[in-house]
Amino acid sequence: MFQSLNTAILYYRVGKNMSLANIYSMLRWKYLNDIRKVETPWIIILGITYRCQCSCSHCSAGAGRESDKYKIETPKELTLEEIKGILDQASEIGIPKIDLFGGEPLIREDIVDIVAHGAKRGLYMAITTNGEYLTKDLTVALKKAGVNCINISLDSASERVHDRLRGRVGLYKKVVEGIKDCHEVGIPSIVSTCVTRKRVASKDFKEMIALSRDLKASAVRILFPSQAGRWNENREIVLSEEEQVAVIDSLDSSFCFIEGAFSVAGKKKVCQALRKKMLYISPYGDVQVCVAINKSFGNVRNGSLKEAIKGMWSHPSFVKNKDCCAAGEFIYS
Ligand SMILES: C[S@@+](CC[C@H](N)C(=O)[O-])C[C@H]1O[C@@H](n2cnc3c(N)ncnc32)[C@H](O)[C@@H]1O
Repeated sequence: MFQSLNTAILYYRVGKNMSLANIYSMLRWKYLNDIRKVETPWIIILGITYRCQCSCSHCSAGAGRESDKYKIETPKELTLEEIKGILDQASEIGIPKIDLFGGEPLIREDIVDIVAHGAKRGLYMAITTNGEYLTKDLTVALKKAGVNCINISLDSASERVHDRLRGRVGLYKKVVEGIKDCHEVGIPSIVSTCVTRKRVASKDFKEMIALSRDLKASAVRILFPSQAGRWNENREIVLSEEEQVAVIDSLDSSFCFIEGAFSVAGKKKVCQALRKKMLYISPYGDVQVCVAINKSFGNVRNGSLKEAIKGMWSHPSFVKNKDCCAAGEFIYS
């Protein structure tokens, strides 16, 4: 009972500025899944660029990209028109939510146009950003375009530690300003933070949650470490099931949540992607399980999104994997 009340408070905070069109899309999703029994993803994590000014020590984005390994030329990023096409298809399929992801999505100059197009199609538009380019002017423009929520990454309550982990001096101050601006402009902001075993037990973790409250963020999103990208060889980094349950139990669930709307079942952390609630599209149009698993199941440049999703969900390696935050195991199984 308290759990449901806390969840309701959290959803209210984060969903405060939803339009009627957003609510319609979400109800339609419920209808498709529960009544028509048409399995439909809840969210697309849409990578719009791999470019990024940070060099985070834990970065999983674009894990194992050929270009990183062999310094070969990368394919061209999706154009604005191609992204609009993906958003159109998402709304036709009945997917209600998009998270614009990177790399750093605010590097793209057409970010406001992308948000505006998705919002016009009734999609709940979120952005996940490191916050550096989130100026007051951009915040106002994104609000006008219809953005629903901005996820801003914060790796520590300490300015020195955050900037060191991100390889970017001065970033912490911009994150703090960005969260304040979102509140002033009326955009729910979610502080995204990746927790290692050591960090979750630290004073810094509690201070970071307190700081997020002080700054009037709407919520804190906890990301469990995934063994991918710069952590690809680090099996130790993955929290055990018991450790994950302990973190889930310790959180104030009216303010903090794990990863996404479908990431926890009972008290257990589950994979939203393998439960068909989430998928990832790379900045090159590849349809993938998630950002941490660099395996393409089709490309939106060569066919429809609906067909690519169908192909991915029926692929033997998708069917075989039940729980996975270990990218290496997924790719080679
Ligand atoms: C990959 S970044 C991309 C968006 C943007 N540049 C940012 O910093 O938020 C999105 C989030 O994923 C988190 N992240 C990156 N690598 C991770 C990993 N190996 N395990 C868990 N979370 C990770 C980051 O800390 C960040 O909060």
